[in-house]
Amino acid sequence: MIFLVLLVFQLAITESIKVAESYWTLKPNELVVDEDMVKYGNKVLVPLMCGEAFEGQDIVWRRESGEQLQERGNRVLVTVEERQGGRYTCHSPNGSVLNHTLVLIRWPYRKIIKEAPEKGYIHCSTNNYSGSFQCSWTWDEKRDGKVVHIKAVRSHSGGNVSCSLNSSGHSISCQDHEYCPYSEELEHINLTIFFRSKYVVETYYQRFQISDIVRPDLVQINEKNDSLELQYPDTWNLPFSYFPLTFQVKEIRCRKKCDCNSSHHRSSKVNLTQDQHWPLKKGVTVCVRAQDDLCNSTWSEWTQYKRNKNRTRKNKKKRHRKEE
Ligand SMILES: *[C@@H]1O[C@H](CO)[C@@H](O)[C@H](O)[C@H]1NC(C)=O
Ligand SMILES: *[C@@H]1O[C@H](CO)[C@@H](O)[C@H](O)[C@H]1NC(C)=O
Ligand SMILES: *[C@@H]1O[C@H](CO)[C@@H](O)[C@H](O)[C@H]1NC(C)=O
Ligand SMILES: *[C@@H]1O[C@H](CO)[C@@H](O)[C@H](O)[C@H]1NC(C)=O
Ligand SMILES: *[C@@H]1O[C@H](CO)[C@@H](O)[C@H](O)[C@H]1NC(C)=O
Ligand SMILES: *[C@@H]1O[C@H](CO)[C@@H](O)[C@H](O)[C@H]1NC(C)=O
Ligand SMILES: *[C@@H]1O[C@H](CO)[C@@H](O)[C@H](O)[C@H]1NC(C)=O
Ligand SMILES: *[C@@H]1O[C@H](CO)[C@@H](O)[C@H](O)[C@H]1NC(C)=O
Ligand SMILES: *[C@@H]1O[C@H](CO)[C@@H](O)[C@H](O)[C@H]1NC(C)=O
Ligand SMILES: *[C@@H]1O[C@H](CO)[C@@H](O)[C@H](O)[C@H]1NC(C)=O
Repeated sequence: MIFLVLLVFQLAITESIKVAESYWTLKPNELVVDEDMVKYGNKVLVPLMCGEAFEGQDIVWRRESGEQLQERGNRVLVTVEERQGGRYTCHSPNGSVLNHTLVLIRWPYRKIIKEAPEKGYIHCSTNNYSGSFQCSWTWDEKRDGKVVHIKAVRSHSGGNVSCSLNSSGHSISCQDHEYCPYSEELEHINLTIFFRSKYVVETYYQRFQISDIVRPDLVQINEKNDSLELQYPDTWNLPFSYFPLTFQVKEIRCRKKCDCNSSHHRSSKVNLTQDQHWPLKKGVTVCVRAQDDLCNSTWSEWTQYKRNKNRTRKNKKKRHRKEE
């Protein structure tokens, strides 16, 4: 208690600007300061260096605006205001540019991407157990955001997970190179995505196992002999005996605009089955989705099946012709 009071008192009387304690290099020539305003107030001093080769030389520093800093020399402390990073260049006294540093501020807010209902900020998923996965997000259209760095590792071994940004710019595709689909998954994947907008950096962290995020692709349905054959998605792992799926089947009664997602239709009790055969009844639309039988992960999307009326009509026509 006394300590806390002393601390607050001390902060209040310290008017001089503090030197940032936590900063790191995102890329060569890009410095990120972890902003902690409780600690620093709204300004912080950031140490910059022009280059090893310029030690002891007279160096001039400029802000992006062209404004020259008062401090000179190879190592200087620049004052960075809250949320106001920027580009700094260092020059020899005759004006030629020697080097540059971009100062970015990492803040704790979440503004560059948007939170989606139930999916959160970053949504990762995969359609099978092969160690590959995708993560997507939604940009906040008010910010000009981009991905500046992706860090993905196995939680214990620190093993190799490689990720790349999709061409669309709003998702990444990753591959865990040490992943083995046939052994129990003991490690997690630690994923951090670094987003940047202007001079601000936001980091988003996810930790998961492949089995947490697996979601089978659509079940294929074939009609055979008045029964339906439920097929495993092409992308699901083989052999099926080792990677079994559970099917969820419901029959809905609807004329037009049938929607398996909708709860407005009259529907049968929902059945769970591993059997790939389902008896086809007249006048019902069948909805089928699949889930990994061995863990409680996400269901696939529904596949909707209704007996093709056109075909039956065509058959009738044929029969008519034969009869004629
Ligand atoms: C310029 O700065 C970068 C990052 O600090 C440093 O790695 C590089 O060596 C510097 N270049 C020169 C010519 O000193
Ligand atoms: C400016 O000075 C640097 C060394 O400080 C030298 O290498 C460079 O050639 C000079 N440039 C001009 C235009 O005089
Ligand atoms: C992964 O995250 C966990 C918990 O956040 C941490 O204990 C572990 O050290 C991380 N692993 C690596 C390789 O960074
Ligand atoms: C990660 O694995 C890939 C494919 O096996 C390999 O090309 C790459 O060099 C590896 N990277 C590291 C850092 O081990
Ligand atoms: C990423 O791009 C690939 C091909 O460009 C596409 O198949 C995949 O669906 C994309 N992933 C996401 C999550 O959008
Ligand atoms: C359809 O049923 C008949 C008789 O019940 C059977 O002989 C035939 O093999 C079945 N065809 C298929 C594709 O299952
Ligand atoms: C897993 O899914 C990916 C992406 O759809 C596919 O390229 C790969 O062949 C699938 N792996 C297996 C074992 O089916
Ligand atoms: C169910 O909803 C999802 C999105 O919420 C949609 O993509 C899908 O097409 C719908 N499925 C059916 C069978 O209507
Ligand atoms: C579906 O479940 C109901 C009871 O829950 C059962 O009476 C019916 O036989 C099941 N249908 C199939 C095709 O398994
Ligand atoms: C499966 O997960 C859902 C949602 O995450 C949860 O509501 C349900 O209780 C879980 N079922 C089992 C058997 O763990």
